[in-house]
Amino acid sequence: MTSLTPADLAKKAAADAAVAFVQDGMRLGLGTGSTAAFMVKRLGERVREEGLRVVGVPTSSRTADLARAEGIRVVTLDQAGWLDVTIDGADEFDPDLTLIKGGGGAHLQEKVVAAASDRMIVITDPGKRVARLGAFPLPVEALQFGLASTIRHIGAVLTDLGCADVRITRRMAGAVPFVSDEGNAILDLHMGTIADASVLSRSLNQIPGVVENGLFINMSDLVVIGHTDGRAELIEAEPGLAEQMRAVRPRQENPFADIVG
Ligand code: A5P
Repeated sequence: MTSLTPADLAKKAAADAAVAFVQDGMRLGLGTGSTAAFMVKRLGERVREEGLRVVGVPTSSRTADLARAEGIRVVTLDQAGWLDVTIDGADEFDPDLTLIKGGGGAHLQEKVVAAASDRMIVITDPGKRVARLGAFPLPVEALQFGLASTIRHIGAVLTDLGCADVRITRRMAGAVPFVSDEGNAILDLHMGTIADASVLSRSLNQIPGVVENGLFINMSDLVVIGHTDGRAELIEAEPGLAEQMRAVRPRQENPFADIVG
């Protein structure tokens, strides 16, 4: 048996606590990243051990492969139609539960899936908690077509917002440029600090060539912070949300009757 590092123990604690919210018959968004991988594995255990019936919509090809290997039924978002809960990691979260995501280059699918979900549970370790977002470079997915022009526009927008000294780098995968599952480039904006996430997000997404930025605003319902001793701390977007999410739903005879394929 491989022993887990302290960081992995914290990630696993968060993942296990989040998967405890999953109930029979749920349609789930499956996040991407090292913390989300622990979540998919725990979900797979519950599917195998308890006969839990769920369908999962993965947010990346990596997560899709892992979910299938764990015996989780994988469907597309269009097949599922809507989702009960998405469980996903984050790179940073602030006191409003606004997130920076996309450290793994999957924030485009992650945002589409989270937006189709009734609830979003974010799983993290304590190191992701910040007073103000921006130390983690903000990922921006952009078309490869005209990328240099898009970078210039981003620079101009940042200057207008009073952030003229922000460095913009292209995400690499070793010696070659990283390409997202959607075939796009990822740019990392070394902001340092983000004064107004809403204004920044709106401004970036208006630039032709920008596909989606990694700010998740008003999307998180619950952040689960795992600790190395196995404890999980819950931070709710509103008091009572965790309790509501634990409320037991009646089992349905065939919860996925409408899903073809
Ligand atoms: C994937 O693109 C990201 O949004 C991840 O969810 C985020 O980077 C967290 O990843 P880790 O759990 O590996 O830190």
